[in-house]
Amino acid sequence: MRGAVLYGSCYGTAQKYAERFARETGLPCLPCEQAGDVRDADTLVYFGGLYAGGVLGLSKTIRSLPNAANMRLLIVTVGLADPQDPVNVQNIRTALKKQLPQEVFARAQIFHLRGGIDYARLSRGHRAMMALLYHHDKRLPPEKQSAESRAIVETYNSKVDFFDAQALDVIRRALETA
Ligand SMILES: Cc1cc2nc3c(=O)[nH]c(=O)nc-3n(C[C@H](O)[C@H](O)[C@H](O)COP(=O)(O)O)c2cc1C
Repeated sequence: MRGAVLYGSCYGTAQKYAERFARETGLPCLPCEQAGDVRDADTLVYFGGLYAGGVLGLSKTIRSLPNAANMRLLIVTVGLADPQDPVNVQNIRTALKKQLPQEVFARAQIFHLRGGIDYARLSRGHRAMMALLYHHDKRLPPEKQSAESRAIVETYNSKVDFFDAQALDVIRRALETA
């Protein structure tokens, strides 16, 4: 296998997962902006932070790889909302389907991890966006709340870190299974 780990990360959580996974598997690990360096890989494991439902850098990375449709692709999303929530997972997958060419999505193996957030480190734009979402979501009646809205309300203006190295085991096992 000529494999590589790529990551799209704004605040470092997806990067931390990617680097840990790369250490455990012995694969090279690069930021998605350097995807061109691994264009000859036959297997890519892509870790990306979730931003407004989309996986950071994924579409652009796939478009930049001429051989993407023939590669084995494992996509790992890293978000604040609970990935044990089936509706959250369904929403992420629906968004991913729109982000990727049909043939790439159809063959990809998809996993979901929980990241974190530190409001003290957010850019001004991101903080403004989270404030809008928070003021909207905190008024939602219980039946309209989602894993995402609950996560935003519960963690607003604070620092949380749900990094879980053990959650990588299932991805490593999938990688080892041809
Ligand atoms: C502007 C903004 C939008 C976000 N949108 C989502 C989202 O749609 N779903 C989710 O689960 N988490 C969302 N998050 C939380 C991030 O996915 C989470 O902080 C993740 O750990 C970021 O990864 P990174 O540190 O590698 O950039 C959002 C965070 C910000 C700041």
